[in-house]
Amino acid sequence: MSRKAVAVLYEAGNSAKEPRLLGCKENELGLRSFLESRGFKFVVLSDKEKLLDKELADTEILITTPFHPAYVTAERIQKSPKLKLCVTAGVGSDHIDLHAANKAKITVAEVTGSNVVSVAEHVVMQILALVRNYLPAYTQVIKGEWDVAAIAKDAFDLEGKVVGTVGVGRIGYRVLQRLKPFDCKELLYSDYQPLDPQREAAIGAKRVTFEELIKRCDVITVNCPLHDSTRDLFNKEVFDKMKKGMYLVNTARGAIVNRDALVEAVNSGIVRAYAGDVWYPQPAPKDHPWRTMPRHGMTPHYSGTTLDAQKRYADGTKDIIQRYLDGVPQKKEDLIVENGEFINKSYVQPGKV
Ligand code: NAI
Repeated sequence: MSRKAVAVLYEAGNSAKEPRLLGCKENELGLRSFLESRGFKFVVLSDKEKLLDKELADTEILITTPFHPAYVTAERIQKSPKLKLCVTAGVGSDHIDLHAANKAKITVAEVTGSNVVSVAEHVVMQILALVRNYLPAYTQVIKGEWDVAAIAKDAFDLEGKVVGTVGVGRIGYRVLQRLKPFDCKELLYSDYQPLDPQREAAIGAKRVTFEELIKRCDVITVNCPLHDSTRDLFNKEVFDKMKKGMYLVNTARGAIVNRDALVEAVNSGIVRAYAGDVWYPQPAPKDHPWRTMPRHGMTPHYSGTTLDAQKRYADGTKDIIQRYLDGVPQKKEDLIVENGEFINKSYVQPGKV
């Protein structure tokens, strides 16, 4: 009996004619001939519920992406007795129950670093769009209007503002690096894994506690993974302590920000404007309140899936599978969990930051 690999990818329809759009159902991450040559039956789905459930009993390798996340719950892991390897084509494996994967001794690996520049660029774009009040200005033009005052009364420069990141890993660091030439008043970060002094000095950043960060920042960018301690990290209690009129940009994971508390904070003016590209769940339902709340610049989840990024995470996914099949150790930085243990320390928060 042949071995089986399953991939869950979004459907691209006409857009799949772009051959570099590798991460869609139609283009299969470019993996079919490779997997078939290694004796695998390769099933590619876009349905992440019933059709996925039907495949689980004999799946050995499961490939998913954060952009169209198949939620690999403890229940699904229980239904997958042959599952050995979960590969995240991209970065961020919170859609997999990592504790359940550990219990079942399943390896979870992701293509670390594959889209961190793509996300950092998106963050800078969205910070500027909010602070400079770009979206309402653009909307005026489309509508045939011209009211400079209505835009200018809410437009600022980024220069001289205090900007902070929650998480200063690959993405958070790159965001601060890219913001350095903007001459912000201060670049702050909170993280339980501090930067080494040289890297900190290179961008002129300063480590503070989360409490200090939320009180002092005019702009906060969220760049930590979603795990037990970051789910709902931005909740009502936290919003109430934040600097009034601040901007929040979250490209990390939707569930790090409490859905309803954010809407309240935007309505009350604590958050002057919000942007990002991550939602919970994904795809976001039509009636998700972030779609219609005032002063937001949200996009669907695409910051980490530019065509440049797709090439990198398609190649990385193949590399992870090849190593698994050839018995070659995985690159340590790609491993999230292996042999029942967390290898990636970004998901294991020691106490309070
Ligand atoms: P990384 O592992 O290099 O850095 C994450 C950092 O967050 C680590 O330094 C970790 O110590 C820190 N951290 C964890 N919990 C924290 C907490 N409670 N407070 C402060 N810091 C905390 O990961 P990387 O590559 O920078 O990615 C970060 C996250 O960004 C991913 O886990 C994923 O959720 C998200 N992401 C989103 C993408 C998108 O397309 N929107 C694409 C890629 C990643």
